[in-house]
Amino acid sequence: MANAKLRIAINTGGGDAPGLNAVIRAAVLAALRRGWEVYGIRRGYGGLLGDDLIVPMDKHSVRGIAHLGGTILGTTNRGNPFQIPHTDASGNLTYIDRSDEILANFKKNGLDALFKKGMPIVAVPKTIDNDLAVTQVTFGFNTAVQTASDAIDKLHSTAESHERVMVVEVMGRSTGWIALESGMSGTADVILMPEIPYDIGKVCEKIRERYDTGRRFAIVVVAEGACPVGGEPFFLAKKVPGQADRYGGIADRVAKEIAEHTSFETRSMVLGHLQRGGTPTAFDRLIAARFGAAAVRTIANGDFGSMVALDGSDIKAVPIPYAIAKIKNVPLESDMMHTARDLGISFGD
Ligand code: F6P
Repeated sequence: MANAKLRIAINTGGGDAPGLNAVIRAAVLAALRRGWEVYGIRRGYGGLLGDDLIVPMDKHSVRGIAHLGGTILGTTNRGNPFQIPHTDASGNLTYIDRSDEILANFKKNGLDALFKKGMPIVAVPKTIDNDLAVTQVTFGFNTAVQTASDAIDKLHSTAESHERVMVVEVMGRSTGWIALESGMSGTADVILMPEIPYDIGKVCEKIRERYDTGRRFAIVVVAEGACPVGGEPFFLAKKVPGQADRYGGIADRVAKEIAEHTSFETRSMVLGHLQRGGTPTAFDRLIAARFGAAAVRTIANGDFGSMVALDGSDIKAVPIPYAIAKIKNVPLESDMMHTARDLGISFGD
């Protein structure tokens, strides 16, 4: 397949991550250099259900996009081909399997490769959560940590002025990477993450100790998936078919409990999708470019059904079932965690 003239398509369905446009740019340029034809599928898999949503891409379509957040192709997290939302004639919402239609349209367009699963595909590790075990890092994570760390810096001044405890909720699903790294760089006093169920008594003890030394404000960073000892994570809404559960609400709960236990004035805030938006850092642009170009080399090798991953100083292709089999949690016995504890950060344990 190395010298074959291929016709490939790029699909950015699912949540966006800063660096996604840099991936698209690198993949398009690397494919064009090989004399391949490149198409973009707009709005995730939905694009394969409408003829006008498959657009040819050339070097002009990726001009000046490496530093832009989001995805020029658009996306949706309601594009699971096996559970596409559908409103029937009586107005009832149902979820239907349209995967055969999607596959048929893929073939009809004469496409040889697509960066998404269920077809001859090659994937890239696209998530700010950094929670994939097979890659040292996912693109978008570094930018999310920078955004959260900047926000924590800003919270410091208002927390100090008002002598308040500020509780800030960051993303990460069932892992605490964003909380840990933004909390450490933002010098939080307490970091709560799913890997360490917290005891609110211990959290309050740490805050009281700090107030007793005259530092009459505190910053608590809480991962959206954190939960108390013996408790459950907080979700915003009921599960929707074809979509992941939506976390949310833990910061509010932690803030209320701190206020009740300590009587210190407390506020909560949720950083939310700010962490997914905006200009990718130089680190993310670079790793994204490496992932995008490596994905094209992986297609050239005919290595379908794989995801590109960072392994040391190299990018390798790993089989997708293996790539998504294991979540990467924060290792509790690690330099990062020992450093955090040496700095006096409490994890509520
Ligand atoms: O996986 C990335 C992520 O940003 C999570 O950290 C978060 O829980 C989720 O996506 C939010 O997704 P949505 O765009 O559906 O709100």
